[in-house]
Amino acid sequence: GGGTHHDHSDKKIINVSHRGASGYAPEHTIPAYQLGEQLKGDYIEIDLQMTKDGQLIAMHDESVDRTTDGSGQVKELTLAEVKQLDAGSWFNEKYPQYAKIEYEGLKVPTLEEVLQKFGKQANYYIETKSPDVYPGMEAKLLDVLEDYKMIDKKGRTKNVLIQSFSQESLLTVHSLNANLPLVQLISYQSPAVITDEELEMIAQYAIGVGPNFARIDEQYVQTVRNHDLQIHPYTVNTKEEMRRALDWGVTGLFTNFPDLFHEVIKEF
Ligand code: G3P
Ligand code: CA
Repeated sequence: GGGTHHDHSDKKIINVSHRGASGYAPEHTIPAYQLGEQLKGDYIEIDLQMTKDGQLIAMHDESVDRTTDGSGQVKELTLAEVKQLDAGSWFNEKYPQYAKIEYEGLKVPTLEEVLQKFGKQANYYIETKSPDVYPGMEAKLLDVLEDYKMIDKKGRTKNVLIQSFSQESLLTVHSLNANLPLVQLISYQSPAVITDEELEMIAQYAIGVGPNFARIDEQYVQTVRNHDLQIHPYTVNTKEEMRRALDWGVTGLFTNFPDLFHEVIKEF
């Protein structure tokens, strides 16, 4: 490790199970989220898509093709149709070393089912995906969070973070409820640079940023930290990269292997 990492030893580093413990189990299924908890992830990450009949489901892609045995766009399918699909067998075929018979026939969970299953003991790091494709998804998300008491009567939450690549989507959430902690995701195509002006803008509605780890460096992390913003890069899957991220001063990260990050955090 480098010379500065002990600066953060008194602060809780956030270990986010990316799509659940998706290195070991089919992403965005109940077993993947359960494993994330067992392997000491602090947050369950949930990407949201919305069905034709307006139900929020846990899925990364706009289409069901990659992570189920079906095909088509989520927005063209009803929840009943999505529930017909097998969301686990693809994983067994793609990752035979982690295949389990019980993954066969897993269903795509709704956001409500996930909140019902894991309750208020868990922490949720929820992403509005493709908000331009799903008008109203932010209001729906807040309704569900209120129904499941994840947001209290004063409009506050203890266990939810909301993230998006879409600044517009985050501003919509912020306008609906200015108390919710938001994280601005950013995908860089070339070495990442962020200006004080950008960070001042982000700080008006968000508590932190989530850049792609592959494009950032220590300078980037320090610039963000100088603005007192959190920084949770994605997706960091090797111990070597995890150590580097902590050396640079990140306040958490997204990983498919929360057990590895738990071990690395203990070293620091
Ligand atoms: O939300 C953080 C990270 O998951 C963003 O990338 O494509 O995996 O949702 P993606
Ligand atoms: Ca995500």
